[in-house]
Amino acid sequence: MKIIITKDYETMSDEAFRVMADVVKQNPAAVLGLATGTTPLGLYARMAKDHRENGTSYRNVHTVNLDEYAGLGAESDQSYVWFMRENLFRHLDLPLGNTNLPNGKAEDLLAECARYNALLSEMQQDIQLLGIGSNGHIAFNEPGTPFGAETHVVELAESTIRDNARLFAREEDVPRRALSMGLKNIMHAKKILILANGANKAKAVCGLVKGPVTEQLPASVLQLHPDCVLICDEAAASLL
Ligand code: F6R
Repeated sequence: MKIIITKDYETMSDEAFRVMADVVKQNPAAVLGLATGTTPLGLYARMAKDHRENGTSYRNVHTVNLDEYAGLGAESDQSYVWFMRENLFRHLDLPLGNTNLPNGKAEDLLAECARYNALLSEMQQDIQLLGIGSNGHIAFNEPGTPFGAETHVVELAESTIRDNARLFAREEDVPRRALSMGLKNIMHAKKILILANGANKAKAVCGLVKGPVTEQLPASVLQLHPDCVLICDEAAASLL
């Protein structure tokens, strides 16, 4: 694993942008695996700025997102599809038809997982962007998720519900279930870029880099990926 430690969130985002921009420059028809959450916002702002100022085109790019809350769709400003449109897609020349997320509103969630797995098997990610949960989750693969899992319906861990409650009016509004790519889908990516900032991620980052490869800390599986880059700020790296 290649590790880059930066002074703060802004420089972490600068470095992340460099990696992402390089993938798109080398392959203007790249498949980008994307994530939501607060961590990638700085990176997304830089991609938007670069498109605006330098004309980098995403016309031929396709995207696949990690996850979506069950029951939420584009009309909900808490959904991940809304988040992606608001924070990235509408700022690029990326056709919405080229973007993919699991459909949280699907009537049959298991069939939706099967659809997403089939899609992913035809669209290998040239790069998969990840954040990390304070409990070491990636996407919504909570501790204990088998490394061989593909896209599946997840019951969210209490710690994840608490972490995410800040984004909802009340903790009880946080959906209890989500659709998530599995660790196998993530490991299938050609390249992985995982970002972490802040002291509350330090323990998880330590487990990701130094801990045993264990399903109890899902991100530790990334130690087995041949091309994984971790970019984190000093606070998140403080236990390394
Ligand atoms: C987001 C996702 C999650 C987040 C993680 C960190 O699509 O799958 O695993 O990456 O929970 O979230 P933030 O960035 O908000 O700290």
